[in-house]
Amino acid sequence: MKKLIVGNWKMNPTRGTDARKLFKSVNATASKLKNTETVVCPPLVYLESLGELVTTRSCVLGSQDAFWEHAGAYTGQVSADMIFGTKARYVIVGHSERRAMGETDEMVSKKIKSILQFPLIPIVCVGETKRDDDHAYVKLVKNQIKSALADLTQEEIARIVIAYEPVWAIGKNAKKACEPSDCREMAHVIKTVLADISNAEIAKAIPILYGGSANAENAEPYLKDGLVDGLLVGRASLDAKEFIKILKIAEKN
Ligand code: PGA
Repeated sequence: MKKLIVGNWKMNPTRGTDARKLFKSVNATASKLKNTETVVCPPLVYLESLGELVTTRSCVLGSQDAFWEHAGAYTGQVSADMIFGTKARYVIVGHSERRAMGETDEMVSKKIKSILQFPLIPIVCVGETKRDDDHAYVKLVKNQIKSALADLTQEEIARIVIAYEPVWAIGKNAKKACEPSDCREMAHVIKTVLADISNAEIAKAIPILYGGSANAENAEPYLKDGLVDGLLVGRASLDAKEFIKILKIAEKN
């Protein structure tokens, strides 16, 4: 399986000219890679304009969210149908920063169903806010996956990507990064749940990403020892040089 490196720009950069500059720099390298697919997820307002700069299937665009209704009186929302109308191919869904703003497992499930009605790939984010000695976080992540994939057909499950993002390891306030061995443990848990919901063959083919303070320094240990197929990168995706370093590491591993 190709490595999948996703850059989640969150609410950055402030200006479209900077967004185009950043995407151009990333695309110059990413479009040439053979073993790595790169997905850049900018703020929605830049999707259309960055779509003009996409040159290959090796470096494509994704959205950071999508609403579950197709159209109508939903002020501020953007539908999967509209995202499909841009050049985006992926949609991040259930990111912890959205869950923190009130997004529930039920809403995440509705969004995934709506995204799957189009030729779009949902990147479903799961992860615990804290680790506890009695391993309640394992059950929580299992439940997040079960709820997200409830009522999907086997064919639909086969189209998703799962991103394991322990919330305590995300962002500049994270006290510590997730150890590759902890990432490995959770990737194994996720693969087991996926096999239970679908079957071993489908579970094996579903890409699992790690996210949370991933950068050029720790990318290799995650990709080598973390049992994951790629990374969901926040801050480090805003620095073209650093992000390209990560892409080159992915290409080699
Ligand atoms: P970070 O964010 O890499 O800045 O920790 C990751 C994410 O939230 O997807």
